[in-house]
This record gives sequence, C-alpha cells and structure tokens, in this order.
Amino acid sequence: MLHRVHLRFNMEIKASEGSIGIPFFAEGNLSDQEVIFGPDSISKLGEVAKELGDRALLVTDSGLAKAGHAERALDYLTRSGLETKLFDRSIENPTDSSVRACAEFARSTEINLIVGLGGGSSMDTAKGCNFLLTNGGKMADYWGVGKANQSMLPLIAIPTTAGTGSECQSFALISDDETHMKMACGDSKALPKVTILDPILTLSQPQRVTACTGIDALAHALESAVCTKSNPGSSRHSSEAFKLIEGNLPAVFSDPENIEARGNMLLGASHAGAAIERSMLGAAHSMANPLTASRGVVHGIAVGLSLPIVMAYNSEEQSVRSVYANLARIIKLVDSDTSDHDASKKLIGRVKELLMLAEFPKSLSELGFTHSEIPNLAQNASKQWTATFNPRPMDASIFEKLYSQLLNPEVCDTDFSEAV
Ligand SMILES: [Fe+2]
Repeated sequence: MLHRVHLRFNMEIKASEGSIGIPFFAEGNLSDQEVIFGPDSISKLGEVAKELGDRALLVTDSGLAKAGHAERALDYLTRSGLETKLFDRSIENPTDSSVRACAEFARSTEINLIVGLGGGSSMDTAKGCNFLLTNGGKMADYWGVGKANQSMLPLIAIPTTAGTGSECQSFALISDDETHMKMACGDSKALPKVTILDPILTLSQPQRVTACTGIDALAHALESAVCTKSNPGSSRHSSEAFKLIEGNLPAVFSDPENIEARGNMLLGASHAGAAIERSMLGAAHSMANPLTASRGVVHGIAVGLSLPIVMAYNSEEQSVRSVYANLARIIKLVDSDTSDHDASKKLIGRVKELLMLAEFPKSLSELGFTHSEIPNLAQNASKQWTATFNPRPMDASIFEKLYSQLLNPEVCDTDFSEAV
C-alpha cells in the first residue's frame, strides 16, 4: 500500500490513505513537503510531477541510468505529458564545477521542475543546480542559510539509498573545487516539494553502499540528538530515526532483499535528515570530512570510524549522557532503572557492534593514515561548521587527540571515555 503523507510543518501530519506505520510528524517553520512512501511508489512520479510543472530536468548519475531507474522515471514523466531532459552526470561528493555543469545543461532547456534521483550526491546536485539556475552566481554564494533571494523551482527528491536524508533537507552539500571544503548551502526554498520513498529502488545498491549509507544515517540520528541545536521537534525525528535504523540495519546486512527492512531504513534515514534540518550534526562529521578530503575515504566509513570516540568524548557531559541513555532505553538495550552512565556506555557498545556488522575498517592506519598527517587533519576538522554544534567544545588539540586514538587499531576495543 502506498502512503501519501503531507508534512505540513507546525501541524499534525495527515495521511491521505492509512497512516499506519508512517510516523512522520514535524515541528518547525518550513514550507510544506509531501512524502510518498511504499514499494513501487515511484510509479506516482508522473502524477505528482504534473501538479508542479510541465518541463522537467531529471538529475541522476550514470550508474543509476544504467540500472534502469532513470529510464523508468523518464517514462513516468513523459507518459504524464512532461517534456523531460536527462542529466546523468552527477558525481559522488559534488563540487561547484560539477553542479555548474548541471546548471549549464539546464539553462539550455526551458525547465520549470527538477527531479533528483539517486543518493545524496544526485539530490544535492539537483538542489545545487536549482540555486545556480534560479539565483545565479556560484555555490559559495549560498554557503550558509537563506542566501537565495529569488524564488526557486519545485524539486522532487527520490532517494535510491537510505543514507543522507537529503530528501528531507533544504541543504545541498557541495565541495569547493580547490579547498575541498564541504559547503552546506541551505535555503527553505530548496526543500523538495515532494519526496518519494520507494524501498524497491534501494535493492539495486551494492552491499558496501548499504553499509556506508546506513551507518551515515545512524550517525545523523545520534549526532542530531545531542548537538547544541537539538530541540523537541528535531529530537522526535532523531529518536524515530535511531529506532528504525538500529532495528533494521542488521536485517538489511543479512537479508538485503528484505523489503520491510529496506523500507524502515529509508524512513529512518529520512527522519534523520529531517532531524538535521531542524538541528545540526556534530564532531564525528567534522572528523570525517578531512578524511574524505585528504584520502578519499567514503563518507559513511569516515563518519562510522569517528562516531564511537566522539560519542565517548561527548558522553562525559551529563546532558549528553542522559540523551544517549534514553535512546538505549527506547530500544530496550538496557532496563529502565539502568544508570545514565551505564546505559550510555551500552549505547556506544551497540554502535560498535553495528560497525562490526558493517565490516568497516577499525583504525586510521588501516586506511593508510600516518601520525604525521594528524595535525593537518585536526586543523581541518576544527574548521568544519559541524564542529561548532558539537555538545562539548572542540578545537584542533582535541581533534588531534581523538585522531591519534583512532590511528591505533587496539584503541577500538578500549573504553573511549577514558581516551580524552
Ligand atoms: Fe553524513
């Protein structure tokens, strides 16, 4: 059964057909977003697209085009009468120049609707294209929040991975070509008008992608839950995301064809995206970005490697410990009378278990890093925007200590709370 849910912010959500199992709810001051969830929900693309425009640009990557997803999307759009152009050159970790190429292609057409189909990179390319096409300039001009003065085109987001949650965010993460700094470019007008969550589309991803995107989504849930911007509205999304992701990651690892688990992961990742939209992230993401920039470590692996040690560092703060403990209680990892201290330790242990199931590297040295690189990594981590929202203050010297701990393989089996 397909569920069509209207995310009308500041109001309770009304599902048009049976809201069972659709725990979308939100608070905030953003514009409306419609979420369509269910196996084969991509078949609704043409119907929803023609309500928003009649000339569409479909943004995706070459791999998804080969997998046949783009062809299907094109078919639904054209059968509903939309004239559609395909841009299938979005790249992993999109850059200002790759987004510019998409915008230049779009400029040669007369589109009035954008559809982003793929992982976070394709959806962010679609969003970035929207900024440049409607407001001009370069992506750096939109680094920050609310810098687009002109109206933007409606966007439909269709994720094919359960990871970034970009489909529920008004931010595009675009890297500067020269500095490799990831620029978070956000504007409420860039939020997708419609998001289609079809778990069948996530079946085509390789197991490695499932692991990397799933762990990234887990980190989104846990970092947004404790960051300094966390609030009651974002916390509800963080908790829902954590429950869904923690409960379904093992199933998508062991039984990749499990549609129910895939659907729950997709919902979980979207909740995590909605949580970030209403709050922020923290130091695990700050540590991850320099690893990606310097040695091309996949984002999910970089975040996963950094997450437990950052959680241990943060849980020295009682307010953070209490949030972690509640999450451990929500998933019944501990009894209700377990102390915050013990419950938060158990939660960190559970995260490590999930990382083991993902079969990720356990140290920076396994990824080829050496001690001499750490000061530079730490400097770069301290400059990341996300670091400013970490619940405990971060600076280069603290990042240096955390990276140093991660360099050594056996540290991964030690108690991280004693590490700093
Ligand atoms: Fe992430």
